[in-house]
Amino acid sequence: MVESSGNKKLKTVVFISGKGSNLCNLIKFSKKKISPISIDLIISNNQKCKGLRYAKAFKIKKKIFDFKKRILAEKKILKVLKKEKIKLICLAGFMKILSQNFIKNFNGKILNIHPSLLPKYKGLDTHNRVLKNKEKYTGCTVHYVTPKLDSGKIILQKKIKVNLSDTPQVLAKKVMIYEHKIYPEAILKIFNR
Ligand code: GRF
Repeated sequence: MVESSGNKKLKTVVFISGKGSNLCNLIKFSKKKISPISIDLIISNNQKCKGLRYAKAFKIKKKIFDFKKRILAEKKILKVLKKEKIKLICLAGFMKILSQNFIKNFNGKILNIHPSLLPKYKGLDTHNRVLKNKEKYTGCTVHYVTPKLDSGKIILQKKIKVNLSDTPQVLAKKVMIYEHKIYPEAILKIFNR
């Protein structure tokens, strides 16, 4: 099979802090002919995070930035994104909040995926909170990023049934299956594919 070269695709960076399963999923999606994006860069705040192995595995450039100095880190990132002609940022388990200044100055779209039915359960530890509140449904959401945490316009959402026997780990696994479905779907949606 001939994979598309990525030349005509929108240059995209994925920001990660952890496992990187959404990153891996987006990379695989980006190689399909139907994908409007190519993944050209991976950025992390955590040089030890597991997800960075996908940079080597898929031969994608990676860069690590120290968010203890956020203003400086964001300034450097904006420079890199400009140089690399990146037009789309996909946050995928990125555990830092981007500043208003960064969002305003990036010349493109910024998306995030969150494991809940936003606007419910913003922030961390969603599955635990969903179970404690005995919710019948949970889900996952792809949304635009604004300076307010998990609050930008919703692009796509999937509702998932919670079973009485679900533990946070079981729920996380169940939700992740749909995260991997809706992130590519949301990208197709915003590019009218
Ligand atoms: C996902 O559940 C995502 O929705 C949330 O962080 C988790 C990242 O998982 N923002 P992974 O690193 O993509 O495996």
